[in-house]
Amino acid sequence: MYLDADDERILAGEQGETRQKMLELLVALGKVFGAERLVPIRSAQVSGASYKTIGEYGLQWLSSLNAKAVVPAVLNPIGMPRERWQEMGVNEDFAKKQQAVVAAYERLGIGLECTCTPYYLRETSYGDHLAWSESSAVSYANSVIGARTNREGGPGALAAALIGKTPCYGLHLAENRKPQVIVRVQADTRDWSIAHYGALGYHAGKLVGNRIPFFSGLNPDKDHLKALGAAMAATGAVALYHVEGITPEALKVPFDYTGLEVIAVESGEVEALFKDLPVDAVAVGCPHCSPGELATIAGLLAGKLVTKPLYVFAAQGVIDQNRKIADSIEKSGARVFADTCMVVSPVMEQYSAIMVNSGKALAYVPDMCGALARIGTIEVCVKVATE
Ligand code: F3S
Repeated sequence: MYLDADDERILAGEQGETRQKMLELLVALGKVFGAERLVPIRSAQVSGASYKTIGEYGLQWLSSLNAKAVVPAVLNPIGMPRERWQEMGVNEDFAKKQQAVVAAYERLGIGLECTCTPYYLRETSYGDHLAWSESSAVSYANSVIGARTNREGGPGALAAALIGKTPCYGLHLAENRKPQVIVRVQADTRDWSIAHYGALGYHAGKLVGNRIPFFSGLNPDKDHLKALGAAMAATGAVALYHVEGITPEALKVPFDYTGLEVIAVESGEVEALFKDLPVDAVAVGCPHCSPGELATIAGLLAGKLVTKPLYVFAAQGVIDQNRKIADSIEKSGARVFADTCMVVSPVMEQYSAIMVNSGKALAYVPDMCGALARIGTIEVCVKVATE
C-alpha cells in the first residue's frame, strides 16, 4: 500500500506510540481489504461508546491511548443522556463507568455529541470520504448524501479520526457502488409513513442481505430514507442503496441494470409487520429524530398527557436548536433524551414490550432489551402512549 512521507514518519513512531499503533491498524485493515492507498477523510463517527457494549476491557483500552483527533469526529449513542441520566433512571454505578468512557473519548479529541445522526450537526457533502461506524449513519451518508464510507468498526473509526485518513477500498471506490439487485415495490406508497419505510427496510434487508439494492416504486423524503436504510442495515448488511429518481447517485450515475435479479415486494408483506400488541412503553427516534420528526411529535402530543412512558431520542444539537418544540413535547410527560437510545440504554430492559416507529428498533429491541417490539406509525405511537 502506498504511504506518503508523513505516514512513514508516523509509522516510525515520531509522533508517539498511539498514532503509530493507529496507523498500523489502518495499514493492516487496508492490506486485508486490498487498499492501494489511504484517503483523507472529512469526518469520523466512532462507535463503541456505550459502556453496555464495550465493558471494562474497552474502557481500559481507551484510557491507554494518547493522541488527538485531527478531523471532526463524533461519538455514537451511549448508554444514557450525559446530563439527565438520573432522570432517565440510570443507576449510579453504570453512570460512573459511562462517564469514564466519555471522558476517555474527550481526551482523544472526539466530539461528545453522541448520535447516530451526525449529518444533522456536521456538514457532509456528496463525494466526501468519511470513516463512520454506526450502520444507519453509514447508510444515510452513502445513500442519501452520496458521501463515501465503509461501515467502520469502532477501533477503525477511532484510528481514522486520530490519523485523518482511512484505507481506500470498498465503498470509497466508485466501481463498488453500483446496484446489485433491483427491488420493485408494487404498492401505492404515496401515503406511506416513516414506519412503513422502516418496515419495508426490515423486510427488504432480509431479502437482499449484503447486496446494494436499487429501489423502484418509491417516493420518499429524507426521513423516510433514513428509516429505510437504518432497517436494511439491521436485518441485512446494507451500507448503500439507491432509489430511482431520488437518491443522488441514482440521479447522477448512469448505472447498468442489465442482468440484475429483480425482487418484487407487495404492500401486504410490509403491512404484515404492523401487529397489535399490548406494550408498556413507547420509544421513538431510531435513528435519532430530525427537526421535522420532533415537530410532528409535538403537534400530535399538543394538549395531551402520556399514560405510559414515551421516550423521544434526538441529538443534543438538534434538541438545542428546537428547544421550544422539545419543551412542548415534555409538557405531555414524554421525555426527550439526547446521547442515547432505546437499544443502547440499559434502562429500556425494564419493559416487557416496547412500541416503536422504526424498522431498526423492531429488529434490535428483542435481543438488546429483552422486550417484545411492536411497530406502528408515529400517530399510533402517540395514541398508544396517551390512551
Ligand atoms: Fe441510532 Fe440507537 Fe437506532 S444508535 S439507529 S437510535 S439503535
